[in-house]
Amino acid sequence: MNTDQAKQRIHELTLALHDHNHKYYVLAKPVISDFEFDALLKELEELESQFPDLADSNSPTKRVGGDLTDKFEKEVHRYPMMSLSNTYSQEEMREWEARVKKLVDGEVEYVMELKYDGVAISLTYEDGVLTKAVTRGDGTQGENVTRNVRTIKTIPLTLFGNYPASFDIRGEIFMPLAEFQKLNEARAASDEELYANPRNTASGTLKNKDSAFVADRNLDCFLYSVFGENLPYDNHFDGLTHAADWGFKVPDQKKKYIAKAKSVEEIFDFIDYWDKARHDLPFEIDGIVIKVNSYYNQEELGYTAKSPRWAIAYKFKAESISTRLNDVSYQVGRTGAITPVAELEAIFLAGTTVRRASLHNADQIEKLGLRIGDFVFVEKGGEIIPKVTSVDMDKRDKDLPEFVYATTCPECNTPLVRQEGEAHHYCPNTYHCPPQVKGRIDHFISRKAMNIDGLGTETVDQLWQEGLVQNASDLYALTYDQLIKLDRMADKSVQKLLDGLEASKSQPFEKVLFAIGIRYVGETVAKKLARELKNIQMIQEATKEQLVEIDEIGGRIAESVIAFFNDEYNVNQLEKLQAAGLQFEIIEKELSGNNELDGLTFVVSGVFSKYSRNEIKQAIEDHGGKNVGSISAKTKYVLAGENMGPSKLQKASDLGIPIISEDEFLAMIGKN
Ligand code: IVH
Repeated sequence: MNTDQAKQRIHELTLALHDHNHKYYVLAKPVISDFEFDALLKELEELESQFPDLADSNSPTKRVGGDLTDKFEKEVHRYPMMSLSNTYSQEEMREWEARVKKLVDGEVEYVMELKYDGVAISLTYEDGVLTKAVTRGDGTQGENVTRNVRTIKTIPLTLFGNYPASFDIRGEIFMPLAEFQKLNEARAASDEELYANPRNTASGTLKNKDSAFVADRNLDCFLYSVFGENLPYDNHFDGLTHAADWGFKVPDQKKKYIAKAKSVEEIFDFIDYWDKARHDLPFEIDGIVIKVNSYYNQEELGYTAKSPRWAIAYKFKAESISTRLNDVSYQVGRTGAITPVAELEAIFLAGTTVRRASLHNADQIEKLGLRIGDFVFVEKGGEIIPKVTSVDMDKRDKDLPEFVYATTCPECNTPLVRQEGEAHHYCPNTYHCPPQVKGRIDHFISRKAMNIDGLGTETVDQLWQEGLVQNASDLYALTYDQLIKLDRMADKSVQKLLDGLEASKSQPFEKVLFAIGIRYVGETVAKKLARELKNIQMIQEATKEQLVEIDEIGGRIAESVIAFFNDEYNVNQLEKLQAAGLQFEIIEKELSGNNELDGLTFVVSGVFSKYSRNEIKQAIEDHGGKNVGSISAKTKYVLAGENMGPSKLQKASDLGIPIISEDEFLAMIGKN
């Protein structure tokens, strides 16, 4: 294919993929299968890698992120990002509405929207292309997070239809509840501290330096206002309707996410509706925003120093109810960590019946000053799991005895221990305390670990009850004859389980490392350890100093790894798993190797003859180097293939950065 043909095909693919993305993510009405979509995307990726000069920064391939940035540039907003005045009181809401009516000539129309609980973002589009995405910052200037925002699939990279040549559009980036839950489940599985709420998690994610990490997190965005000169309509509502035609995800009228009103009564109807219905939304809102619709009326009303007079937020109070604390029970996790749980007199709160609430740890109970029999306030925030926020002291019965924290494990009666500096108490009976034993096996077989088909928590329980398994390695010694005797186990399910166990022997080393359940070694850390140290022996022999040198591994993780291997029981387990045939070293890919490129930063550009650009980039990472997208003083080498753009070459030579060829690079990693 020559350059002109490639250009034409890239153009066709880009248009088609943008269109399919919009149909899939914004309209939720895909017209092709995922498989067909992936094939088009792959074709585009290949063409872009062959003809890098033709690749566009807003290409649909940028959705996956990848290039790292060190920091975010500051960016001045062309229209300041103001905040909203807000109220929790119906009275103030009525006063605001009355004032608006007084100041505006004629009938006033309002638009009511949800107040999404996320992070504000301002997007700039020039000639139908996303050029900038900037956080609110101090309202005058924010941070340029465009790379990260490009990975959010509901934000169009290029527009359709009759859009204005230049405009800003603003909205709220948020993390859907399902995504938040999924993330916290994964963290719980590796004993990592849980994220507090979806909003903070969305905000932290958006500021992450690695856009590939952001791409993984499935953030979403609703857009709520358009700013520009000579816009082709005269009111806010029409602005959003037009924005939908250009490809934006705007609030859905059919779902009542947005509506118009002419009176304060209609406004209260909308508020009342959402005060209840908000609990069923797949994302969090913290109130309702009411805006005067007509731009002319908005100008009439004007602004205070901080916020427009034509809009107000009515905020929902976090629902808090007082109920009796009947007891405190204790849960034992697979690592032996004890979590106290409040057993409550059942109450109806924020859409569900609540009987239990988390109390986190002993310090938390002490801070609250709880006593069994107290009336406590329970709140449901972004955390999904309700929490006890305070004791209702007015109702305290002075005869209630002081609370005493458990001293022995509720499951196995072993005295609990609490290490210096640790928030949790632990049950030290690691190998015989039932929830720990079963919890470790459940973790071992889980989808993200050994992914053993045909085996679930219930079967693990059954196998444990029957005395057939005490730990993960016992699974691999199970026989057909043993299994067929169990209740509810027929020939087919036994075969499936045995096949599942056999198949798990091909799970890569990083999954095995995650599966064995070293405390604080989650999926990401397991991947890092596997990549850096290659096999279980190297990990076992690594000193704390060697471990903390690895990116993302701090003292706490290093100590936990060392403690794991100092325990004979674990070492014995690993030997058995090794004998069963599990993978205990990484399978080297053709280009992977050692850490020759440790700490070196590369810019890879152009077309290569022996390997694809992606293979080269992967090789850089595999050898400990780092890929960045643009040349700066920090770049160590520019790895240039054919067709590298002249401006990059110029910049490299201006900064005195060595430009190396594919062969020179291969020699550096000992492949030539
Ligand atoms: S309109 C002039 N509409 O609430 C201010 N804001 O302080 C225009 N927010 O962080 C804002 N949902 O990002 C508007 N439907 C909505 C909103 C909304 C959430 C956020 C906004 C900002 C805060 C307002």
